[in-house]
Amino acid sequence: MFDLSGKTALVTGSGRGIGLVLARGLAKAGARVAVNDLRDDIVGAARETLRRDGIEAAGAAFDVTDREAVREGIDRLERDVAPLDILVNNAGIHRRAPLAEMSAEDWRLVIETNLTSAFLVGQRAVRGMIARRSGKIINICSLNCELPRPSIGNYAAAKGGLVLLTRSMTVEWARHNIQINGIAPGYILTEMTKPLYEDPEKNAWIIGRTPAERWGRPEELVGAAVFLASAEADFVNGHVLFVDGGMRVAL
Ligand SMILES: NC(=O)c1ccc[n+]([C@@H]2O[C@H](COP(=O)([O-])OP(=O)(O)OC[C@H]3O[C@@H](n4cnc5c(N)ncnc54)[C@H](O)[C@@H]3O)[C@@H](O)[C@H]2O)c1
Repeated sequence: MFDLSGKTALVTGSGRGIGLVLARGLAKAGARVAVNDLRDDIVGAARETLRRDGIEAAGAAFDVTDREAVREGIDRLERDVAPLDILVNNAGIHRRAPLAEMSAEDWRLVIETNLTSAFLVGQRAVRGMIARRSGKIINICSLNCELPRPSIGNYAAAKGGLVLLTRSMTVEWARHNIQINGIAPGYILTEMTKPLYEDPEKNAWIIGRTPAERWGRPEELVGAAVFLASAEADFVNGHVLFVDGGMRVAL
């Protein structure tokens, strides 16, 4: 069970953090993986990190918000490496500000990077999946897709939209034997959350609000991703799996 041998996976935004760990996890489950990030040097460094773990990853640097770059990147990967069986839409950013003061640019950038990108990359990757009648798309959502907190209105709106995009993809693409699901992480220790765990007050708030009373590690998302990428999830459609130490169910 959960064997991904013979499958090819692309993880967007996998130069570091959760994406890099998911790429490693999918590779350890047998998949051939392709790393994506904004620039060649970031992708190269991630591939080198994986090489030290005995994983020969492919690489494709492109901006997931740039439709033309996405088209070129996916087409090149499918031509030079292999058709994509698994897509993990992981790239994401934060631009924190109270909604009343948020610039239009910070709103737009976060919506484009966390939501529009999944549409653009998904739309390009699904063509081959439809033709082959097989594919898995995993959208990395967030606990904030349901529960916002002050200063992340752009991010919460994008992640909430990503849940509905996951369901929209499902209602259109499930009949082609493509399963689209989401993972909603709680608070996970990465560069993205550094401003939170390095602030004693915010750190204490997060630990106090999480029933598990701790932060999560990126490695703790691997099992969910491998499951949703595997044949064992062939009848799991439009689901969002929360991996959050219980934060979503606590008042
Ligand atoms: N860390 C958490 O607690 C947490 C919680 C819930 C959801 N998430 C989500 O998980 C995903 C990964 O988060 P992370 O914590 O690893 O963040 P991170 O900042 O460590 O990594 C994100 C990666 O995405 C890349 N990226 C950003 N914009 C891109 C673009 N336009 N094109 C290609 N790559 C781009 C960045 O260069 C970076 O390498 C994000 O979607 C994030 O919203 C994280």
